[in-house]
Amino acid sequence: MQEIDKEGLPKHIAIIMDGNGRWAKQKGAMRVFGHKNAIQSVRETTEACAELGVKYLTLYAFSTENWNRPRKEVDALMKLLVSTIRKETDTLQKNNIRLLTIGATEQLPPICQKELQEAIEITAPNTGLTLILALSYSGRWDIEQAVKKIAQKVEKGELKASEINTQTIEAHLSTCGIPEPELMIRTSGEFRISNFLLWQLAYTEIYITPTLWPDFRKKDLYDAIVSFQQRERRFGKTSEQIQTEKKKNKVKTFA
Ligand code: IPE
Ligand code: IPE
Ligand code: MG
Repeated sequence: MQEIDKEGLPKHIAIIMDGNGRWAKQKGAMRVFGHKNAIQSVRETTEACAELGVKYLTLYAFSTENWNRPRKEVDALMKLLVSTIRKETDTLQKNNIRLLTIGATEQLPPICQKELQEAIEITAPNTGLTLILALSYSGRWDIEQAVKKIAQKVEKGELKASEINTQTIEAHLSTCGIPEPELMIRTSGEFRISNFLLWQLAYTEIYITPTLWPDFRKKDLYDAIVSFQQRERRFGKTSEQIQTEKKKNKVKTFA
């Protein structure tokens, strides 16, 4: 934690929480056991982000494709979601954390929707960390729903096709108003995006750790942030340009 530069924190961290099933299997247990033990990792990560002053944390909890898992596992995950939200809302309140969701949440069981809605409403005035749960989410779903909304506006004559630009698309994505993640972490050593924030990850720094999600602790988050802070983000420019800009900014801050 001491190695983290507090001035250079990512504003938004996104995480693909992966490896619950393998973690359970290693212990000779059922996959659901891994999902249950994932909750402590969610707690620690959320708490660490709130303590550090990270403004947004997006957790990929259930993908569009995860609906294709065995019925028993999907049911267990939904139950776990309900009980966790019920249990944790007080903690969110105490820590000034605001809860949001992205995804086709109308596909979740009604009881999940109700619990989520309540927690979202209760925590709405909180001004600390914004915790965004990606549920029944996929990057393609997000782009698809944005395109539909834009097309409807064009149909109604509210918008011209020639006016559509990057900002128009961003304004219709489920993450509208939320800055793009600067850092994306994936646990369990898989080198893929699995249909997570496809548009939003365009220039995100990616950090992949072999640690399985139920083993992920505050220290693992700190390691990811330290790695992020050692990188040079060039956004298509040359390293020399970036260095010159940095020097200029320093002069400005001291002036
Ligand atoms: C991530 O762990 C949790 C969800 C996708 C809901 P997995 O359940 O994918 O665990 P592995 O990848 O099979 O180990
Ligand atoms: C990605 O993990 C989705 C979530 C973590 C919610 P998966 O385990 O579903 O991804 P794949 O199938 O290995 O790509
Ligand atoms: Mg997985």
